[in-house]
Amino acid sequence: MGPRRSAASSRGRLLLPLLLLGVSGFFQSYAVEVDIKDASNATCLYANWMMRFLITYESNNGDYKTTTLNLSSSATHNGSVCGNDTQAALVAVQFGEGHSWSINITKNNETYQGDFMTLTYNTNDTAVFPDAKRKGPVTIFIKDPAGPVQLNTVFVCHNSFVIEAENITQIFWNVTVQAFVQNGTVSKKETRCPADRPTSAPTVPPTSANATTAPTTAAPPAPTPPKPVENPDTGNYSLKSGNKTCFLATVGLQLNVSQDKPLLININPKTTVADGACGNTTATLKLNDGNSTLIGFTFAVKNASASVQKFYLREVNVTLLNHLNGSVISSADNNNLSKWDAFLGSSYMCRKEQTLQINENVQVHTFNLWIQPFLVEANKFATAEECLADSDLNFLIPIAVGVALGFLIILVFISYIIGRRKSRTGYQSV
Ligand SMILES: *[C@@H]1O[C@H](CO)[C@@H](O)[C@H](O)[C@H]1NC(C)=O
Ligand SMILES: *[C@@H]1O[C@H](CO)[C@@H](O)[C@H](O)[C@H]1NC(C)=O
Ligand SMILES: *[C@@H]1O[C@H](CO)[C@@H](O)[C@H](O)[C@H]1NC(C)=O
Ligand SMILES: *[C@@H]1O[C@H](CO)[C@@H](O)[C@H](O)[C@H]1NC(C)=O
Ligand SMILES: *[C@@H]1O[C@H](CO)[C@@H](O)[C@H](O)[C@H]1NC(C)=O
Ligand SMILES: *[C@@H]1O[C@H](CO)[C@@H](O)[C@H](O)[C@H]1NC(C)=O
Ligand SMILES: *[C@@H]1O[C@H](CO)[C@@H](O)[C@H](O)[C@H]1NC(C)=O
Ligand SMILES: *[C@@H]1O[C@H](CO)[C@@H](O)[C@H](O)[C@H]1NC(C)=O
Ligand SMILES: *[C@@H]1O[C@H](CO)[C@@H](O)[C@H](O)[C@H]1NC(C)=O
Ligand SMILES: *[C@@H]1O[C@H](CO)[C@@H](O)[C@H](O)[C@H]1NC(C)=O
Ligand SMILES: *[C@@H]1O[C@H](CO)[C@@H](O)[C@H](O)[C@H]1NC(C)=O
Repeated sequence: MGPRRSAASSRGRLLLPLLLLGVSGFFQSYAVEVDIKDASNATCLYANWMMRFLITYESNNGDYKTTTLNLSSSATHNGSVCGNDTQAALVAVQFGEGHSWSINITKNNETYQGDFMTLTYNTNDTAVFPDAKRKGPVTIFIKDPAGPVQLNTVFVCHNSFVIEAENITQIFWNVTVQAFVQNGTVSKKETRCPADRPTSAPTVPPTSANATTAPTTAAPPAPTPPKPVENPDTGNYSLKSGNKTCFLATVGLQLNVSQDKPLLININPKTTVADGACGNTTATLKLNDGNSTLIGFTFAVKNASASVQKFYLREVNVTLLNHLNGSVISSADNNNLSKWDAFLGSSYMCRKEQTLQINENVQVHTFNLWIQPFLVEANKFATAEECLADSDLNFLIPIAVGVALGFLIILVFISYIIGRRKSRTGYQSV
Protein backbone atom coordinates (compact mmCIF):
# COMPACT_ATOMS: atom_id res chain seq x y z
CA MET A 1 0.00 0.00 0.00
CA GLY A 2 1.35 3.37 -0.85
CA PRO A 3 0.42 6.75 0.50
CA ARG A 4 -3.26 7.44 0.08
CA ARG A 5 -4.86 10.49 -1.45
CA SER A 6 -7.65 11.99 0.53
CA ALA A 7 -10.29 14.62 -0.06
CA ALA A 8 -8.56 16.90 2.40
CA SER A 9 -5.27 16.95 0.50
CA SER A 10 -5.50 20.51 -0.78
CA ARG A 11 -6.35 21.82 2.66
CA GLY A 12 -3.55 19.76 4.24
CA ARG A 13 -1.05 21.18 1.79
CA LEU A 14 -1.62 24.63 3.22
CA LEU A 15 -1.67 23.49 6.82
CA LEU A 16 1.62 21.67 6.84
CA PRO A 17 4.66 23.17 5.16
CA LEU A 18 6.63 20.01 5.48
CA LEU A 19 9.94 20.91 3.95
CA LEU A 20 12.29 18.87 6.02
CA LEU A 21 14.76 21.20 7.61
CA GLY A 22 16.01 20.17 11.01
CA VAL A 23 16.26 16.67 12.34
CA SER A 24 17.04 16.19 15.97
CA GLY A 25 17.05 13.17 18.16
CA PHE A 26 18.92 11.51 20.95
CA PHE A 27 19.21 7.98 22.17
CA GLN A 28 19.36 6.38 25.52
CA SER A 29 20.44 2.79 25.68
CA TYR A 30 17.69 0.74 24.05
CA ALA A 31 15.23 3.66 23.86
CA VAL A 32 14.95 5.64 20.66
CA GLU A 33 13.63 9.14 20.32
CA VAL A 34 12.95 10.61 16.92
CA ASP A 35 11.81 14.22 16.75
CA ILE A 36 11.53 15.53 13.20
CA LYS A 37 10.98 19.23 12.57
CA ASP A 38 9.42 20.99 9.61
CA ALA A 39 10.52 24.15 7.82
CA SER A 40 9.34 26.38 10.64
CA ASN A 41 11.34 24.36 13.16
CA ALA A 42 8.15 22.85 14.58
CA THR A 43 7.89 19.17 15.47
CA CYS A 44 5.91 17.30 12.83
CA LEU A 45 6.78 13.69 13.71
CA TYR A 46 7.56 12.42 17.16
CA ALA A 47 8.38 8.91 18.32
CA ASN A 48 9.95 7.53 21.47
CA TRP A 49 9.94 3.80 22.00
CA MET A 50 11.78 0.66 22.97
CA MET A 51 11.92 -2.50 20.93
CA ARG A 52 13.69 -5.76 20.43
CA PHE A 53 13.48 -8.58 17.94
CA LEU A 54 13.55 -12.34 18.28
CA ILE A 55 14.92 -13.70 15.02
CA THR A 56 15.08 -17.32 13.94
CA TYR A 57 17.97 -18.03 11.59
CA GLU A 58 19.70 -21.03 10.13
CA SER A 59 23.04 -21.90 11.70
CA ASN A 60 26.08 -23.49 10.08
CA ASN A 61 25.05 -27.01 11.03
CA GLY A 62 21.56 -26.53 9.58
CA ASP A 63 19.78 -26.05 12.93
CA TYR A 64 17.46 -23.11 13.39
CA LYS A 65 18.37 -20.84 16.28
CA THR A 66 16.53 -17.93 17.81
CA THR A 67 18.53 -14.88 18.74
CA THR A 68 17.67 -11.53 20.28
CA LEU A 69 18.48 -8.33 18.43
CA ASN A 70 18.43 -5.22 20.59
CA LEU A 71 18.70 -1.56 19.70
CA SER A 72 22.12 -0.16 20.38
CA SER A 73 22.79 3.16 22.04
CA SER A 74 24.31 4.49 18.83
CA ALA A 75 21.14 4.32 16.74
CA THR A 76 20.59 6.96 14.04
CA HIS A 77 17.40 7.95 12.28
CA ASN A 78 18.42 8.95 8.80
CA GLY A 79 15.62 9.07 6.29
CA SER A 80 12.82 9.77 8.74
CA VAL A 81 10.27 12.14 7.18
CA CYS A 82 7.15 13.91 8.39
CA GLY A 83 4.95 13.03 5.47
CA ASN A 84 1.84 14.81 4.29
CA ASP A 85 -1.47 13.95 2.68
CA THR A 86 0.20 12.43 -0.35
CA GLN A 87 3.42 11.07 1.09
CA ALA A 88 3.57 8.62 4.00
CA ALA A 89 5.47 9.61 7.13
CA LEU A 90 8.50 7.44 7.79
CA VAL A 91 10.20 6.63 11.06
CA ALA A 92 13.51 5.00 10.21
CA VAL A 93 16.32 3.90 12.53
CA GLN A 94 19.71 2.36 11.90
CA PHE A 95 21.53 0.52 14.67
CA GLY A 96 24.33 -1.89 15.49
CA GLU A 97 26.29 -3.64 12.76
CA GLY A 98 24.16 -2.78 9.73
CA HIS A 99 20.66 -3.32 11.10
CA SER A 100 17.76 -1.01 10.34
CA TRP A 101 14.05 -0.75 10.97
CA SER A 102 11.36 1.58 9.65
CA ILE A 103 7.63 2.08 9.60
CA ASN A 104 5.50 3.92 7.04
CA ILE A 105 2.60 5.84 8.51
CA THR A 106 -0.18 7.04 6.26
CA LYS A 107 -2.74 9.74 6.87
CA ASN A 108 -6.44 9.54 6.24
CA ASN A 109 -9.08 12.19 6.78
CA GLU A 110 -9.28 11.84 10.54
CA THR A 111 -6.70 9.22 11.36
CA TYR A 112 -3.16 8.00 10.84
CA GLN A 113 -2.14 4.38 10.69
CA GLY A 114 1.00 2.27 10.49
CA ASP A 115 1.15 0.71 7.05
CA PHE A 116 4.08 -1.68 6.99
CA MET A 117 7.34 -2.15 8.81
CA THR A 118 10.64 -3.03 7.23
CA LEU A 119 13.35 -4.81 9.19
CA THR A 120 16.79 -5.39 7.78
CA TYR A 121 19.06 -7.52 9.92
CA ASN A 122 22.63 -8.26 9.02
CA THR A 123 23.77 -11.79 9.76
CA ASN A 124 27.38 -10.60 9.39
CA ASP A 125 26.94 -9.25 12.91
CA THR A 126 28.65 -12.15 14.66
CA ALA A 127 27.73 -10.89 18.13
CA VAL A 128 24.05 -11.48 17.33
CA PHE A 129 24.31 -14.22 14.67
CA PRO A 130 27.48 -16.06 15.71
CA ASP A 131 27.09 -19.01 13.36
CA ALA A 132 24.73 -17.90 10.62
CA LYS A 133 24.91 -20.10 7.54
CA ARG A 134 24.12 -17.25 5.17
CA LYS A 135 25.94 -13.98 5.77
CA GLY A 136 24.55 -10.64 4.77
CA PRO A 137 21.52 -8.42 5.10
CA VAL A 138 18.03 -9.95 5.20
CA THR A 139 15.04 -7.66 4.68
CA ILE A 140 11.49 -8.51 5.66
CA PHE A 141 8.27 -6.54 5.40
CA ILE A 142 5.68 -6.82 8.12
CA LYS A 143 2.17 -5.44 7.86
CA ASP A 144 1.29 -3.33 10.88
CA PRO A 145 -1.77 -4.97 12.46
CA ALA A 146 -2.58 -1.99 14.70
CA GLY A 147 -5.70 -0.01 13.97
CA PRO A 148 -5.95 3.67 13.02
CA VAL A 149 -5.20 6.41 15.55
CA GLN A 150 -7.15 9.70 15.63
CA LEU A 151 -5.23 12.64 14.18
CA ASN A 152 -3.98 15.07 16.83
CA THR A 153 -3.77 12.34 19.42
CA VAL A 154 -0.62 10.58 20.53
CA PHE A 155 -0.42 6.78 20.50
CA VAL A 156 0.87 5.53 23.85
CA CYS A 157 1.62 1.98 24.95
CA HIS A 158 3.45 1.36 28.19
CA ASN A 159 2.89 -2.37 28.23
CA SER A 160 4.70 -4.51 25.73
CA PHE A 161 3.00 -5.72 22.60
CA VAL A 162 4.14 -8.11 19.98
CA ILE A 163 3.96 -8.19 16.21
CA GLU A 164 4.93 -11.43 14.54
CA ALA A 165 5.98 -12.31 11.05
CA GLU A 166 7.68 -15.31 9.56
CA ASN A 167 10.62 -16.17 11.86
CA ILE A 168 10.55 -12.72 13.44
CA THR A 169 8.91 -11.58 16.64
CA GLN A 170 8.98 -7.82 17.20
CA ILE A 171 8.44 -6.69 20.77
CA PHE A 172 7.63 -3.05 21.53
CA TRP A 173 7.11 -1.30 24.83
CA ASN A 174 7.13 2.18 26.32
CA VAL A 175 5.90 3.51 22.98
CA THR A 176 4.90 7.13 22.31
CA VAL A 177 4.25 8.04 18.67
CA GLN A 178 2.52 10.87 16.93
CA ALA A 179 2.68 11.37 13.20
CA PHE A 180 1.32 14.44 11.41
CA VAL A 181 1.77 16.58 14.53
CA GLN A 182 0.04 19.94 14.20
CA ASN A 183 1.33 23.28 15.42
CA GLY A 184 4.57 21.69 16.61
CA THR A 185 3.09 20.29 19.81
CA VAL A 186 2.75 16.62 20.62
CA SER A 187 -0.84 16.15 21.70
CA LYS A 188 -1.90 15.71 25.32
CA LYS A 189 -4.75 13.48 24.14
CA GLU A 190 -3.70 9.84 24.17
CA THR A 191 -4.86 6.84 22.22
CA ARG A 192 -3.90 3.85 24.37
CA CYS A 193 -3.06 0.42 23.04
CA PRO A 194 -5.25 -2.57 24.00
CA ALA A 195 -2.58 -3.89 26.39
CA ASP A 196 -2.76 -0.68 28.44
CA ARG A 197 -6.52 -0.58 28.68
CA PRO A 198 -8.34 -2.05 31.63
CA THR A 199 -9.77 -5.45 30.76
CA SER A 200 -13.37 -4.29 31.07
CA ALA A 201 -13.01 -1.38 28.63
CA PRO A 202 -14.49 -2.04 25.19
CA THR A 203 -11.71 -2.42 22.68
CA VAL A 204 -11.52 -2.54 18.93
CA PRO A 205 -9.47 -5.52 17.82
CA PRO A 206 -6.72 -4.84 15.31
CA THR A 207 -7.66 -6.36 12.00
CA SER A 208 -4.73 -8.17 10.45
CA ALA A 209 -6.75 -11.33 10.36
CA ASN A 210 -10.43 -11.57 11.10
CA ALA A 211 -10.61 -11.75 14.84
CA THR A 212 -14.12 -11.24 16.03
CA THR A 213 -15.25 -11.77 19.55
CA ALA A 214 -18.13 -13.57 21.06
CA PRO A 215 -19.72 -12.61 24.33
CA THR A 216 -19.30 -15.12 27.12
CA THR A 217 -21.21 -18.15 26.08
CA ALA A 218 -22.87 -20.42 28.56
CA ALA A 219 -20.18 -22.75 29.81
CA PRO A 220 -20.83 -26.25 31.06
CA PRO A 221 -21.24 -26.58 34.82
CA ALA A 222 -17.95 -25.87 36.59
CA PRO A 223 -16.06 -29.00 37.50
CA THR A 224 -15.10 -29.55 41.13
CA PRO A 225 -13.00 -28.14 42.72
CA PRO A 226 -14.13 -24.63 41.70
CA LYS A 227 -11.68 -22.56 39.69
CA PRO A 228 -9.97 -19.56 41.28
CA VAL A 229 -10.73 -17.52 38.16
CA GLU A 230 -13.70 -17.35 35.84
CA ASN A 231 -13.82 -19.25 32.60
CA PRO A 232 -12.37 -17.31 29.67
CA ASP A 233 -14.54 -15.56 27.10
CA THR A 234 -14.99 -17.43 23.85
CA GLY A 235 -13.37 -15.89 20.77
CA ASN A 236 -13.94 -16.44 17.06
CA TYR A 237 -10.77 -16.52 15.01
CA SER A 238 -10.22 -17.15 11.34
CA LEU A 239 -7.50 -17.15 8.71
CA LYS A 240 -7.85 -16.22 5.09
CA SER A 241 -6.07 -17.38 2.00
CA GLY A 242 -6.68 -14.66 -0.55
CA ASN A 243 -10.33 -13.74 -0.07
CA LYS A 244 -11.34 -17.18 1.09
CA THR A 245 -11.60 -18.20 4.75
CA CYS A 246 -9.42 -21.28 5.17
CA PHE A 247 -9.29 -21.79 8.96
CA LEU A 248 -12.08 -21.34 11.49
CA ALA A 249 -11.84 -21.50 15.25
CA THR A 250 -14.15 -20.70 18.12
CA VAL A 251 -12.53 -21.19 21.49
CA GLY A 252 -12.10 -19.83 25.00
CA LEU A 253 -8.50 -20.17 26.16
CA GLN A 254 -6.91 -20.27 29.56
CA LEU A 255 -3.26 -20.86 30.35
CA ASN A 256 -2.02 -22.51 33.50
CA VAL A 257 1.61 -21.55 33.93
CA SER A 258 3.46 -22.88 36.94
CA GLN A 259 6.46 -20.81 37.81
CA ASP A 260 6.84 -20.09 41.50
CA LYS A 261 3.14 -20.77 41.85
CA PRO A 262 0.46 -21.73 39.31
CA LEU A 263 -0.82 -18.73 37.37
CA LEU A 264 -4.06 -18.85 35.42
CA ILE A 265 -4.28 -16.47 32.47
CA ASN A 266 -7.51 -16.00 30.55
CA ILE A 267 -6.97 -14.99 26.95
CA ASN A 268 -9.09 -11.94 26.16
CA PRO A 269 -10.59 -12.41 22.67
CA LYS A 270 -11.21 -8.69 22.34
CA THR A 271 -7.49 -7.93 22.19
CA THR A 272 -6.36 -11.13 20.47
CA VAL A 273 -5.19 -11.12 16.88
CA ALA A 274 -5.11 -14.25 14.76
CA ASP A 275 -2.39 -14.96 12.25
CA GLY A 276 -0.92 -18.10 10.72
CA ALA A 277 -0.97 -20.18 7.60
CA CYS A 278 -3.32 -22.62 5.93
CA GLY A 279 -2.09 -25.57 3.95
CA ASN A 280 -3.08 -28.90 2.47
CA THR A 281 -1.33 -31.05 5.04
CA THR A 282 -0.45 -28.65 7.87
CA ALA A 283 -2.12 -25.50 9.13
CA THR A 284 -1.07 -23.16 11.94
CA LEU A 285 -3.15 -20.70 13.92
CA LYS A 286 -1.11 -18.18 15.88
CA LEU A 287 -2.84 -16.06 18.49
CA ASN A 288 -1.31 -12.95 19.99
CA ASP A 289 -3.34 -11.57 22.87
CA GLY A 290 -1.73 -8.12 22.60
CA ASN A 291 -0.72 -8.59 26.22
CA SER A 292 2.53 -10.54 25.97
CA THR A 293 1.06 -13.99 25.37
CA LEU A 294 1.53 -15.96 22.14
CA ILE A 295 -0.07 -19.31 21.40
CA GLY A 296 0.41 -21.40 18.28
CA PHE A 297 -1.70 -24.42 17.24
CA THR A 298 -0.42 -26.61 14.42
CA PHE A 299 -2.68 -29.19 12.81
CA ALA A 300 -1.60 -31.92 10.45
CA VAL A 301 -3.25 -34.47 8.21
CA LYS A 302 -2.59 -38.04 9.30
CA ASN A 303 -0.76 -40.05 6.72
CA ALA A 304 -2.92 -43.12 7.12
CA SER A 305 -3.02 -45.73 4.44
CA ALA A 306 -6.78 -45.64 4.86
CA SER A 307 -8.65 -43.95 2.04
CA VAL A 308 -10.46 -41.61 4.47
CA GLN A 309 -8.03 -39.11 5.91
CA LYS A 310 -8.12 -37.50 9.31
CA PHE A 311 -6.54 -34.39 10.75
CA TYR A 312 -5.29 -33.85 14.29
CA LEU A 313 -3.65 -31.30 16.56
CA ARG A 314 0.07 -32.00 16.39
CA GLU A 315 1.77 -29.06 18.07
CA VAL A 316 1.01 -26.30 20.54
CA ASN A 317 3.52 -23.70 21.60
CA VAL A 318 3.12 -21.00 24.18
CA THR A 319 5.37 -18.00 24.78
CA LEU A 320 4.95 -15.59 27.66
CA LEU A 321 6.79 -12.30 27.60
CA ASN A 322 7.61 -9.90 30.39
CA HIS A 323 5.01 -7.09 30.30
CA LEU A 324 7.57 -4.41 30.93
CA ASN A 325 10.59 -5.26 28.86
CA GLY A 326 9.39 -7.96 26.50
CA SER A 327 11.94 -10.54 27.57
CA VAL A 328 10.81 -14.15 27.30
CA ILE A 329 9.54 -15.42 30.64
CA SER A 330 8.48 -18.82 29.50
CA SER A 331 8.43 -20.70 26.24
CA ALA A 332 6.85 -24.11 25.93
CA ASP A 333 6.42 -26.33 22.91
CA ASN A 334 4.88 -29.77 22.50
CA ASN A 335 5.13 -31.05 18.94
CA ASN A 336 4.17 -34.58 19.75
CA LEU A 337 0.49 -34.20 20.46
CA SER A 338 -2.20 -36.34 18.97
CA LYS A 339 -5.44 -34.67 19.95
CA TRP A 340 -8.64 -33.38 18.47
CA ASP A 341 -8.78 -35.70 15.51
CA ALA A 342 -11.60 -35.67 12.99
CA PHE A 343 -12.16 -36.65 9.40
CA LEU A 344 -10.75 -34.29 6.82
CA GLY A 345 -13.61 -32.13 5.58
CA SER A 346 -15.37 -32.03 8.93
CA SER A 347 -14.81 -29.87 12.00
CA TYR A 348 -13.92 -30.82 15.57
CA MET A 349 -16.02 -29.72 18.51
CA CYS A 350 -15.53 -30.01 22.24
CA ARG A 351 -17.65 -27.75 24.41
CA LYS A 352 -16.35 -29.19 27.66
CA GLU A 353 -13.08 -28.04 29.14
CA GLN A 354 -10.06 -29.78 27.64
CA THR A 355 -6.50 -29.70 28.93
CA LEU A 356 -3.46 -29.75 26.68
CA GLN A 357 -0.22 -30.46 28.52
CA ILE A 358 2.53 -28.48 26.77
CA ASN A 359 5.31 -29.22 29.19
CA GLU A 360 5.56 -29.88 32.91
CA ASN A 361 4.93 -26.19 33.66
CA VAL A 362 2.42 -25.11 31.05
CA GLN A 363 -1.14 -26.26 30.36
CA VAL A 364 -3.66 -24.85 27.91
CA HIS A 365 -7.31 -25.20 28.87
CA THR A 366 -9.88 -24.89 26.10
CA PHE A 367 -13.59 -24.16 26.43
CA ASN A 368 -16.41 -24.22 23.87
CA LEU A 369 -13.97 -25.41 21.26
CA TRP A 370 -15.05 -25.63 17.61
CA ILE A 371 -12.28 -25.76 15.07
CA GLN A 372 -11.71 -26.54 11.42
CA PRO A 373 -8.16 -26.20 10.14
CA PHE A 374 -8.68 -27.67 6.67
CA LEU A 375 -11.14 -27.53 3.76
CA VAL A 376 -13.32 -24.70 5.05
CA GLU A 377 -16.07 -23.95 2.55
CA ALA A 378 -18.15 -20.77 2.30
CA ASN A 379 -16.84 -19.36 5.59
CA LYS A 380 -18.78 -21.99 7.54
CA PHE A 381 -17.91 -24.89 9.79
CA ALA A 382 -18.55 -28.29 8.24
CA THR A 383 -20.33 -31.02 10.19
CA ALA A 384 -18.76 -31.36 13.61
CA GLU A 385 -17.30 -34.46 15.19
CA GLU A 386 -17.79 -34.07 18.90
CA CYS A 387 -15.39 -35.15 21.59
CA LEU A 388 -16.25 -38.00 23.90
CA ALA A 389 -16.61 -35.64 26.87
CA ASP A 390 -19.39 -33.79 25.03
CA SER A 391 -21.15 -36.96 24.02
CA ASP A 392 -21.18 -38.04 27.67
CA LEU A 393 -22.94 -34.81 28.37
CA ASN A 394 -25.30 -35.28 25.44
CA PHE A 395 -26.03 -38.77 26.62
CA LEU A 396 -26.92 -37.42 30.09
CA ILE A 397 -29.23 -34.70 28.80
CA PRO A 398 -31.95 -37.07 27.44
CA ILE A 399 -31.83 -38.99 30.71
CA ALA A 400 -32.24 -35.79 32.71
CA VAL A 401 -35.05 -34.63 30.41
CA GLY A 402 -36.68 -38.05 30.63
CA VAL A 403 -36.54 -38.07 34.43
CA ALA A 404 -37.94 -34.54 34.58
CA LEU A 405 -40.73 -35.47 32.17
CA GLY A 406 -41.54 -38.53 34.27
CA PHE A 407 -41.88 -36.39 37.37
CA LEU A 408 -44.06 -33.96 35.46
CA ILE A 409 -46.40 -36.73 34.32
CA ILE A 410 -46.68 -38.08 37.87
CA LEU A 411 -47.35 -34.54 39.16
CA VAL A 412 -50.05 -33.94 36.57
CA PHE A 413 -51.59 -37.31 37.38
CA ILE A 414 -51.61 -36.60 41.14
CA SER A 415 -53.13 -33.14 40.66
CA TYR A 416 -55.73 -34.68 38.34
CA ILE A 417 -56.70 -37.23 41.00
CA ILE A 418 -56.80 -34.54 43.71
CA GLY A 419 -58.77 -32.23 41.41
CA ARG A 420 -61.32 -34.95 40.68
CA ARG A 421 -61.72 -35.76 44.39
CA LYS A 422 -62.21 -32.05 45.22
CA SER A 423 -64.75 -31.46 42.47
CA ARG A 424 -66.65 -34.56 43.51
CA THR A 425 -66.82 -33.45 47.16
CA GLY A 426 -67.76 -29.96 45.94
CA TYR A 427 -70.62 -31.41 43.92
CA GLN A 428 -71.95 -33.37 46.85
CA SER A 429 -72.03 -30.36 49.18
CA VAL A 430 -74.25 -28.29 46.82
C1 LIG B 1 4.55 16.07 0.42
O1 LIG B 1 5.93 15.92 0.74
C2 LIG B 1 6.75 15.64 -0.39
C3 LIG B 1 8.17 15.41 0.07
O2 LIG B 1 8.42 15.97 1.32
C4 LIG B 1 6.66 16.84 -1.37
O3 LIG B 1 7.44 16.55 -2.50
C5 LIG B 1 5.23 17.04 -1.77
O4 LIG B 1 5.11 18.18 -2.56
C6 LIG B 1 4.36 17.22 -0.53
N1 LIG B 1 2.97 17.28 -0.91
C7 LIG B 1 2.12 18.15 -0.39
C8 LIG B 1 0.71 18.03 -0.85
O5 LIG B 1 2.47 18.99 0.42
C1 LIG C 1 15.67 25.75 14.70
O1 LIG C 1 16.07 25.49 16.05
C2 LIG C 1 17.45 25.26 16.19
C3 LIG C 1 17.73 24.91 17.64
O2 LIG C 1 16.61 25.11 18.45
C4 LIG C 1 18.20 26.52 15.78
O3 LIG C 1 19.60 26.28 15.88
C5 LIG C 1 17.86 26.85 14.35
O4 LIG C 1 18.45 28.04 13.96
C6 LIG C 1 16.36 26.99 14.17
N1 LIG C 1 16.05 27.16 12.77
C7 LIG C 1 15.11 28.01 12.34
C8 LIG C 1 14.90 28.07 10.86
O5 LIG C 1 14.48 28.71 13.11
C1 LIG D 1 11.91 -19.63 8.71
O1 LIG D 1 12.30 -20.75 9.49
C2 LIG D 1 11.99 -21.99 8.91
C3 LIG D 1 12.41 -23.06 9.88
O2 LIG D 1 11.94 -22.77 11.18
C4 LIG D 1 12.71 -22.13 7.56
O3 LIG D 1 12.34 -23.34 6.95
C5 LIG D 1 12.33 -20.97 6.67
O4 LIG D 1 13.07 -21.01 5.47
C6 LIG D 1 12.60 -19.65 7.36
N1 LIG D 1 12.12 -18.57 6.53
C7 LIG D 1 12.83 -17.49 6.30
C8 LIG D 1 12.20 -16.43 5.45
O5 LIG D 1 13.95 -17.33 6.79
C1 LIG E 1 -3.24 24.73 15.41
O1 LIG E 1 -3.32 26.12 15.35
C2 LIG E 1 -4.45 26.61 14.64
C3 LIG E 1 -4.34 28.10 14.54
O2 LIG E 1 -3.74 28.64 15.68
C4 LIG E 1 -5.71 26.19 15.38
O3 LIG E 1 -6.85 26.61 14.70
C5 LIG E 1 -5.72 24.66 15.48
O4 LIG E 1 -6.85 24.23 16.27
C6 LIG E 1 -4.46 24.15 16.12
N1 LIG E 1 -4.46 22.71 16.05
C7 LIG E 1 -4.17 21.94 17.09
C8 LIG E 1 -4.26 20.49 16.88
O5 LIG E 1 -3.85 22.41 18.18
C1 LIG F 1 -2.55 -8.40 30.79
O1 LIG F 1 -2.04 -9.48 31.54
C2 LIG F 1 -1.96 -9.23 32.93
C3 LIG F 1 -1.28 -10.41 33.59
O2 LIG F 1 -1.67 -11.59 33.01
C4 LIG F 1 -3.35 -8.98 33.48
O3 LIG F 1 -3.27 -8.67 34.84
C5 LIG F 1 -3.99 -7.82 32.73
O4 LIG F 1 -5.33 -7.66 33.15
C6 LIG F 1 -3.97 -8.09 31.25
N1 LIG F 1 -4.47 -6.91 30.54
C7 LIG F 1 -5.37 -7.01 29.56
C8 LIG F 1 -5.77 -5.72 28.92
O5 LIG F 1 -5.85 -8.08 29.20
C1 LIG G 1 -18.84 -16.72 16.76
O1 LIG G 1 -19.07 -17.90 16.02
C2 LIG G 1 -20.25 -18.60 16.40
C3 LIG G 1 -20.29 -19.88 15.62
O2 LIG G 1 -20.06 -19.67 14.28
C4 LIG G 1 -21.45 -17.71 16.14
O3 LIG G 1 -22.62 -18.38 16.56
C5 LIG G 1 -21.30 -16.42 16.90
O4 LIG G 1 -22.34 -15.56 16.59
C6 LIG G 1 -19.98 -15.75 16.57
N1 LIG G 1 -19.81 -14.58 17.41
C7 LIG G 1 -19.38 -13.41 16.95
C8 LIG G 1 -19.30 -12.30 17.93
O5 LIG G 1 -19.06 -13.26 15.78
C1 LIG H 1 -2.12 -26.02 36.87
O1 LIG H 1 -0.98 -26.82 36.64
C2 LIG H 1 -0.47 -27.41 37.81
C3 LIG H 1 0.81 -28.15 37.47
O2 LIG H 1 0.83 -28.58 36.14
C4 LIG H 1 -1.52 -28.35 38.41
O3 LIG H 1 -1.03 -28.92 39.61
C5 LIG H 1 -2.78 -27.57 38.70
O4 LIG H 1 -3.80 -28.44 39.16
C6 LIG H 1 -3.25 -26.86 37.45
N1 LIG H 1 -4.38 -26.01 37.79
C7 LIG H 1 -5.49 -25.96 37.05
C8 LIG H 1 -6.56 -25.05 37.54
O5 LIG H 1 -5.61 -26.60 36.03
C1 LIG I 1 5.17 -21.76 17.30
O1 LIG I 1 5.08 -22.70 16.25
C2 LIG I 1 4.84 -22.12 14.98
C3 LIG I 1 4.66 -23.22 13.99
O2 LIG I 1 5.66 -24.19 14.12
C4 LIG I 1 6.00 -21.20 14.62
O3 LIG I 1 5.74 -20.58 13.38
C5 LIG I 1 6.13 -20.15 15.69
O4 LIG I 1 7.25 -19.33 15.42
C6 LIG I 1 6.29 -20.77 17.04
N1 LIG I 1 6.26 -19.71 18.01
C7 LIG I 1 7.03 -19.69 19.07
C8 LIG I 1 6.86 -18.52 19.94
O5 LIG I 1 7.81 -20.58 19.31
C1 LIG J 1 2.78 -41.23 3.55
O1 LIG J 1 3.11 -42.60 3.61
C2 LIG J 1 3.66 -43.11 2.40
C3 LIG J 1 3.86 -44.61 2.55
O2 LIG J 1 3.92 -44.99 3.89
C4 LIG J 1 4.97 -42.39 2.09
O3 LIG J 1 5.51 -42.85 0.86
C5 LIG J 1 4.70 -40.90 1.98
O4 LIG J 1 5.91 -40.19 1.82
C6 LIG J 1 4.02 -40.41 3.26
N1 LIG J 1 3.67 -39.01 3.09
C7 LIG J 1 3.89 -38.10 4.01
C8 LIG J 1 3.40 -36.72 3.69
O5 LIG J 1 4.46 -38.34 5.06
C1 LIG K 1 9.65 3.60 30.12
O1 LIG K 1 10.06 4.95 29.96
C2 LIG K 1 10.17 5.66 31.18
C3 LIG K 1 10.50 7.09 30.86
O2 LIG K 1 10.69 7.31 29.51
C4 LIG K 1 11.24 5.01 32.04
O3 LIG K 1 11.33 5.68 33.26
C5 LIG K 1 10.90 3.57 32.29
O4 LIG K 1 11.94 2.93 32.97
C6 LIG K 1 10.67 2.85 30.99
N1 LIG K 1 10.19 1.51 31.26
C7 LIG K 1 10.84 0.43 30.90
C8 LIG K 1 10.21 -0.87 31.25
O5 LIG K 1 11.89 0.47 30.30
C1 LIG L 1 13.27 -7.90 32.14
O1 LIG L 1 12.77 -7.68 33.45
C2 LIG L 1 12.97 -8.77 34.33
C3 LIG L 1 12.35 -8.44 35.67
O2 LIG L 1 11.77 -7.19 35.69
C4 LIG L 1 14.47 -9.05 34.48
O3 LIG L 1 14.67 -10.18 35.32
C5 LIG L 1 15.05 -9.34 33.11
O4 LIG L 1 16.45 -9.52 33.21
C6 LIG L 1 14.74 -8.20 32.16
N1 LIG L 1 15.23 -8.60 30.84
C7 LIG L 1 15.89 -7.75 30.05
C8 LIG L 1 16.35 -8.31 28.74
O5 LIG L 1 16.07 -6.59 30.34
